[in-house]
This record gives sequence, C-alpha cells and structure tokens, in this order.
Amino acid sequence: MSEKSERADFVVVANRLPVDLERLPDGTERWKHSPGGLVTALEPFLRARHGAWVGWPGVADVDVEPFTDEDMTLRPVRLSSDEFREYYEGFSNATLWPLYHDVVVSPVFDRSWWESYRRVNQRFAEATAEVSAEGATVWVQDYQLQLVPSMLRELRPDLRIGFFLHIPFPPVELFMQLPWRTEIVRGLLGADLVGFHRPGGAQNFLWLARRLAGFEPSRGQVGVRSRPGMVQVGDRTVRVGAFPISIASSELDQLARTKEVQQRAKEIRAELGSPRKIMLGVDRLDYTKGIDVRLHAMHELLAEGRVRADEVAMIQVATPSRERVEHYKQMREDIEREVGRINGEFGRVGHPAVHYLHTHIDRKDLVAFYCAADVMVVTPVRDGMNLVCKEYVASRHDLGGTLVLSEFAGAAAELTSAFLVNPHNLDGVKESLSAALGIEQAEGRRRMRALRRQVLTHDVDRWARSFLEALGAH
Ligand code: ADP
Ligand code: G6P
Repeated sequence: MSEKSERADFVVVANRLPVDLERLPDGTERWKHSPGGLVTALEPFLRARHGAWVGWPGVADVDVEPFTDEDMTLRPVRLSSDEFREYYEGFSNATLWPLYHDVVVSPVFDRSWWESYRRVNQRFAEATAEVSAEGATVWVQDYQLQLVPSMLRELRPDLRIGFFLHIPFPPVELFMQLPWRTEIVRGLLGADLVGFHRPGGAQNFLWLARRLAGFEPSRGQVGVRSRPGMVQVGDRTVRVGAFPISIASSELDQLARTKEVQQRAKEIRAELGSPRKIMLGVDRLDYTKGIDVRLHAMHELLAEGRVRADEVAMIQVATPSRERVEHYKQMREDIEREVGRINGEFGRVGHPAVHYLHTHIDRKDLVAFYCAADVMVVTPVRDGMNLVCKEYVASRHDLGGTLVLSEFAGAAAELTSAFLVNPHNLDGVKESLSAALGIEQAEGRRRMRALRRQVLTHDVDRWARSFLEALGAH
C-alpha cells in the first residue's frame, strides 16, 4: 500500500473501507478484510475499475493518510470515539438498523445521535468532493450515509451521484416513526438514482417522496432492473429502481473446484467424526439473522428424536459484530446459552451436537465449509438480500447440498427452488429441516441445478452494471 492523492473518475463512498485497521496487543498495526456483504460485493468490482473508496478505517480517533491498495485508492474518513458511539453504534445501528429491519427490536430515537449522524455525513460528503474528478461518478452506499447525496450535490453539482441501500427499505408505516424522516428522504433525493434490492422498497420510497417532500413521483410499478420510478426535483429527474445484489459467482465456483478446498472439505467432515449429515449456518452475529430460530428448531428436533446428535452435526459460524450495542450483547448471551443447553442435553464427550465458532473465517475455509455442508440453514427474520445463501449455491458445482432459506431474505424472490421457510413458524422450520436432511438425491440435484442457474447468471457484475447503466454512467 502506498500514499496517493489523485482525483478519481469513479468513487465509492461507504461507511467502512474494504479493509479495517487492526491494532495488535504488541502495539503494531495491520489491515484486515472488513466484515459484511457490502464489502464482499463491491470490492472486486471497484478494483477492476481502478476507482477510489471513501470510508472509515474501522478504528476511532485515528488519522490515516490516503493510500493505494493494489488497484484502488483509499481515502480514510476519521471518526472520533464520540462519533463512533453516536453516529455508528447509535443512529446507524440502534436507530436505523432495527427500524429498517421491521423493528425486530425497538429502535432508539436520540436527538444527539441524529446531530452526530448529520455531522459525519457532512464529513463524508466533503472528503468525497475532494477526491472526485470533474464530472466523476460517485456511488454512495447504505443506510449510514443517506444524507450524503444531497450534501455532496450542494458541494459538487457537476457529479453524477448514485445511492444504493443494502438493507431493506421498510414499510412506510414504520419509516414514518422516524423523527427525521423528511430530512432522510430529502437527503436521498440528492442522488440521480436511488437503488433498492426489491421493487417494494422503491415503491415505498416513491410514496414517501410525495408524502414527505411534496414531489409528484411517477405512478407505474417499478420492475427488477427495469421501469424505474421517477421523481422530478426542480430541474433534475431522480430515478428510483430495484437492483438485487449478488456475488462474484464464477470466482467462487472456481475456488470451490480447487483440490485444496475439496481436500479441506473432506478434512472438516472427518474432524466432525464423519457424521451422516452436516448442517451449517454462517452469519454476522446479528439479531436479524434468526440464529436463535435454527437453534430452537434443532433443539426440538433432537428432543423429539427426529434428529440424532450422533448422525447430524450442526455448525454455526458467527462473525463478531457491533459488540457494544445493547441488543447485540443480549442476543449473543441468548445464543450462547442455547448452544450450551443443547450440548448439555444431547452432546457427548468429544461430540457436541452444535459446533459454535464465534469468529471470522478465511475465504477458502468458508468455501470448504460450504462444500462440506449437506444442509445450509439461512433463517433471517429480515434481510435485505443475504449473500451467504448465494455463496453456498455457487460453491456446489457437485449439485450436492440443500438450502433452507427464509422467505424474509431478499434472496428468496430469486432462489425459489430452496426450501423456503417462515422463520416465525417454528413447526414449519422443523419440517423443512427434516425434509432437507432426508431429501432424495435426485430431488436435491434438481433443486440445486435450478438455484445455480439463477446465481451463476445473476452475479455481482450484472448488479453493478445494471445500476450504473440506469445511472447513465457505464
Ligand atoms: P450481512 O451483509 O448482513 O453481513 P450477507 O449475507 O449479505 O449479510 O453478507 C455476509 C458476508 O460476510 C458474506 O460474504 C459472508 O461470506 C461473510 N461472512 C459472514 N459470516 C462470516 C464468517 N463467520 N466468517 C467469514 N465470512 C463471513
Ligand atoms: C451489512 C451492512 C453494511 C455493513 C455490514 C457490516 O452488510 O449493510 O453496511 O458494513 O453489515 O456491519 P458493520 O457495522 O460491521 O460495518
């Protein structure tokens, strides 16, 4: 990595840089890959475009000079520890995150958090104005930065500005709870194109543009990657569309075919004592992911004797996330208690019923886990898209493995050959897990073939291209 300060024609702006600064106990520092689906999706794309990325380096109170990382220029934005608490943990992750995820837990409305959110959004807008070349295309990402489009337009009217929301956009009744709802809608309308995963989100936003900002949006139904809605804002037309995100499918497919990954998958099975079936969950440790749902289902299946711990091994890999936010602390305790309870009742020495890893694992290992898993369990109570389920499908060139997927993940609209479940219906989840564990090989292959057709033809490149074409910036 080297220092750099040239201006770029293509700029991504996201709360996090694709790498996080890590301070080791011996005082040294190193960069590691940032968590979450946003970075997974955008990083390969931006590298290929040789663009700039504006974002926070993942640690409060540090100043880092702009630098280049292989093909990308990175422009760090500083957050103080107060801002980390108020803007990031507070307004972004204890107000907007739960509000946009169907108030799964209660959002907190705090006026000082809002002030901090505004201040930090302004700083991101200023940093972006500095690094963007004349007439550049700027792509602002996600719920942490919803005011940036209008702030940036004030500073730099010459830029072409897109915004994409990586999480669900809520039903209007829920959005209307937000005391700063009009400011957020006006902030987003600073963009030339506002993108959501699903047409429903776009439709909700169009309704709010009328109700809260007094504009007259177009009336037709928004399609997937087609028929965007329009809002006339002064002399500008803002487009509003649906662009379901995806993964670098063929790269993952290739990685899964390597000898190294296949060998590791075999080792994983052997290390688990060669069980008849392996069930897998991989998530950020977040209360929206429904990790508790699958643990409760497993607990009951074991208690009823429908699943035997010596035949089925369950693995849950959970990346630590937002660890100081109260609801996250509570959820971690609940989940770890439940894992302990299941293992106490059904495990044997050396053979727990649930293998729980509270860690981030590297890409090759992750793909090896996908290859080893007979049943992949993805049960969020609400998820904008969910990339894990697409990664699983891309890894299964052998047409083995079965996907159990929540109807409340955006991906469910595309992955209709999965076992789709309502995570609020525990009996339904149990039925689907049981059916997935006992599936006939031919039926499993038929489903996986259909899933792969979808995932391999709809990759992240297609997502980015369709968004940028609609923005008029390809
Ligand atoms: P979110 O963006 O809410 O975290 P997604 O499913 O869209 O959810 O994306 C999660 C990304 O993080 C995926 O690329 C997935 O592979 C990765 N990931 C999640 N948990 C882990 C883990 N424990 N170890 C390594 N990678 C993980
Ligand atoms: C989701 C969000 C991203 C976020 C990621 C990780 O994918 O949509 O914006 O970066 O989770 O969360 P974190 O709070 O650690 O950045």
